[in-house]
Amino acid sequence: METIKEKIRKTITIILLIITLLIGGIGYIAWYNLFREVPIYYESPEEHFKYGSIGTEQNEGLPYWIWLVLPRLFPEKLPAPGGYTSLGFTWEEGKETPIGISKKTIGFPRQGITCAVCHSVTIREKPQDKPMIFLGGPSSKFDSQSYLRFLAACANDPRFTADYILDAIKYVYNLSWLDKLLYRYVIIPQTKKGILRQVAGFAWMDSRPDWGPGRISPFNPGKFRYLEQPLDDTVDNSDMMSIWNQKIKVESGFAYHWDGLETSLTETIQTGAIGDGATPKSIDIEGLKRVEDFIMELPPPKYPFAINPELAAIGSKIFDNNCATCHAFGREKTGTVIPIEEIATDRHRLDMWTQAAADSYNQYAEDYEWDFDYLRKTNGYVAVSLDGLWARAPYLHNGSIPTLKDLLEKPENRPQVFYRGYDVYDREKVGFVSEGVEAQKIGFQYDTSLIANGNQGHIYGTDLAAEDKEALIEYLKTL
Ligand code: HEC
Ligand code: HEC
Repeated sequence: METIKEKIRKTITIILLIITLLIGGIGYIAWYNLFREVPIYYESPEEHFKYGSIGTEQNEGLPYWIWLVLPRLFPEKLPAPGGYTSLGFTWEEGKETPIGISKKTIGFPRQGITCAVCHSVTIREKPQDKPMIFLGGPSSKFDSQSYLRFLAACANDPRFTADYILDAIKYVYNLSWLDKLLYRYVIIPQTKKGILRQVAGFAWMDSRPDWGPGRISPFNPGKFRYLEQPLDDTVDNSDMMSIWNQKIKVESGFAYHWDGLETSLTETIQTGAIGDGATPKSIDIEGLKRVEDFIMELPPPKYPFAINPELAAIGSKIFDNNCATCHAFGREKTGTVIPIEEIATDRHRLDMWTQAAADSYNQYAEDYEWDFDYLRKTNGYVAVSLDGLWARAPYLHNGSIPTLKDLLEKPENRPQVFYRGYDVYDREKVGFVSEGVEAQKIGFQYDTSLIANGNQGHIYGTDLAAEDKEALIEYLKTL
């Protein structure tokens, strides 16, 4: 016979068991719908580069369905019609996301940015053409700052509510009742908070000149946040760089970034992902290794229009005499830092980086298998290689010179104001069309008199005779 005591004990045990199961069940459901990671894998290295994850979804990505409907809900907050393409994203037909946006399920589908959003360039011969897309080239259109401001404006709008957003999602995706509950009470409110938190961390950028399309502030965001350096008034607005053809650069021991603040390609890639919002826990080291393998072998694109071979041959000699020591592969200065006193271009980007920031970055991932050791402080800008140069306009580290023809002019004769972000090609000057009605309408006004936008320095070749300049430019098209 069971005693009453035993009966009570049994009942309590059963109740506890049920409670445990219930909590476990709820916990499992919560985990499954909010945190479960589903890896994505693209067989093709190219697709992986364009759409694969680098680990940015968890920390700074948005829920995919919310992200997708924002331009439909708040079109007036975009610079022009066309949804995300008005911010310079390139959306290939039939794809779920633009180039450089990944979609990954972590509990629910989320989006994140990838390397290709900044490191792919589009070029059109004529305004009515479809763009040619060159992976690994520096985007001249993607306007990261306006994207951030768009998200902020949406999150700050009183209409950013579950009712308004769920009503739009229903036209693109059928959420289950449980999803709807989660979106209403957890995901949408958290997204709003997340965007506002992220944007608050960027408040410092509003007191400095706008980045405009094709440029970002690459290091100040990290410097002030995870490298925990004091807020200062430096401006590091930088043009995006091409990242193709890495093998020869690695073999020749190139320094990386405009000022050569890194000397390891692997670390440049990993710090790139951290800068884009991956965390030491979420960073996808294997996925990044695939990106590295891809850009090691990725060739620079050939100039797609006609070249005059005789003229280019003459230009090749002029290049040898005036430029090769700093810009031809295998030469003594190519890929090394040229002191600022000598190159004399705008020094703000250089002065933004400090020894303390480099030390902090070198300590940043001490506890992980991968780690950073090669960040440093330099005193100038790297004599970059000129591979695929024709597709890399505007020129110099701050993108202050629209075309090659302008670069070979004396600083006082270079354009003081021009328009960036219009991707129609200027074959005459070699670069993008940077003036005229269309460029003004679509482009961003770049004013070289603003802080860190200076177009001085790098006066090599500016004394050449007009016909020599023409020949040199013809040769530069072949690189
Ligand atoms: C938001 C735009 C953006 C994203 C995303 C981005 N980069 Fe960059 N990247 C830049 C800019 C801008 C620079 C130049 C920064 C500087 O030195 O001022 C750069 C520099 C580089 C360089 C140095 C090139 C050289 O010749 O010195 C490499 C390599 C690179 N990025 C690779 C990557 C990889 C790989 C990813 C993805 C993990 C990535 N980047 C993501 C904007 C971006
Ligand atoms: C003493 C070394 C040196 C010489 C000589 C030199 N350059 Fe440069 N070049 C540099 C450095 C350093 C930079 C980067 C400067 C910056 O961005 O502020 C650069 C940048 C450039 C760029 C911009 C690349 C880009 O991606 O935006 C072009 C184009 C260029 N040089 C062409 C030439 C040509 C053409 C000649 C010869 C007429 C020449 N350079 C001579 C050191 C040199």
